[in-house]
Amino acid sequence: MAHGFETLAIHAGQAPDDRTGAVIPPIYQTSTFAQDAVGSPRSGYEYARSGNPTRDALQECLAALEGGNRGLAFASGLAAEDTLIRTVCKPGDHVLIPDDAYGGTYRLFAKVAERWGLQWTAVHMSDVDAVRAAFRPQTTVIWVETPTNPLLGIADIGALAGVAHDHGALLVVDNTFASPYLQQPLGHGADVVVHSTTKYLGGHSDVVGGALVIRDETLGDALAYHQNAMGAVAGPFDAWLTLRGARTLGVRMDRHCDNAERIVEFLSRHSKVAKVHFPGLPDHPGHETAAKQMRRFGGMVSFRAADGPEAAVEICNRTKLFTLAESLGGVESLIEHPGKMTHASAAGSPLEVPADLVRLSVGIETVDDLVADLEQALR
Ligand SMILES: Cc1ncc(COP(=O)(O)O)c(C=O)c1O
Repeated sequence: MAHGFETLAIHAGQAPDDRTGAVIPPIYQTSTFAQDAVGSPRSGYEYARSGNPTRDALQECLAALEGGNRGLAFASGLAAEDTLIRTVCKPGDHVLIPDDAYGGTYRLFAKVAERWGLQWTAVHMSDVDAVRAAFRPQTTVIWVETPTNPLLGIADIGALAGVAHDHGALLVVDNTFASPYLQQPLGHGADVVVHSTTKYLGGHSDVVGGALVIRDETLGDALAYHQNAMGAVAGPFDAWLTLRGARTLGVRMDRHCDNAERIVEFLSRHSKVAKVHFPGLPDHPGHETAAKQMRRFGGMVSFRAADGPEAAVEICNRTKLFTLAESLGGVESLIEHPGKMTHASAAGSPLEVPADLVRLSVGIETVDDLVADLEQALR
């Protein structure tokens, strides 16, 4: 029988422990496993970089939540991205990346992978014709974030999967902002889903992690091989914390969405706000696509300060409940200035973000308190 999302979040990969009946998968804090005879590891485990039961529990759960066949957990989102890039690309290849991507993803392509011979072009991913036009004979990957960080742009996953596959390329979707509760890219034709599990999947701002989820078995085997060969795996305690967060993803996401919608309503009517970026707004250029591929519109909101860049910085400095911090997706609300914080590494590049932009990660506190905090900060 097929189970619903919330049931999978609580049970996939999490059967009670065989030996003790522990209801929660234990933290197997060990680097190695006794072998019954030379060449006979017990239950398949031999060395904890290659495999650990706590990480396996998380990986199985992540695969189920994304509708994939294989999940792989890493030490961070960027570790997952690096492993993916070095598995599916080789020197001389060319990739298409979003012109509005997480600054660290941009830095990984522009400052690290490029030195190893990987070419890249930044493209506006909501423009399918522009993506098609940017293809070169060496293009092997389209890399998409949707919604994007920090401008909340939307890319049509199904349409881009078609373009990628017409050219024999892979479509990679960074699903960090939506989380698998709101959007499942593999079901729309994507080949690989990327997560910074640091964000909504972990959900409590207490662990850094990353993940890849795949349907294709051959690609899954290649990525699992590189996960072990390159070694940037999630440790057992990090995997355990991430899995604890994932169990409540559905209920948390619904509250994140409720609160974000109320805040968008408030900001949209405020004279100190020039523009609100949120895919749930009917006038957002990607609204229809978002409504087609997402269950709801998420907990991330960004807006432009009507009085310019200095006012944007001031607003970030003035909130009390919204904590001034990088990252997102935790139960607590965060505020930041992308141009000076998360996206500083994109300054002077095609991915530079507007200086009057403020980004909110709307948490699950009492929404009236959040609105009151923004009201006093904007005053
Ligand atoms: C959309 C997105 N992808 C990837 C990453 C990188 O993940 P990590 O910080 O876990 O390495 C981030 C981090 O903020 C992100 O926002």
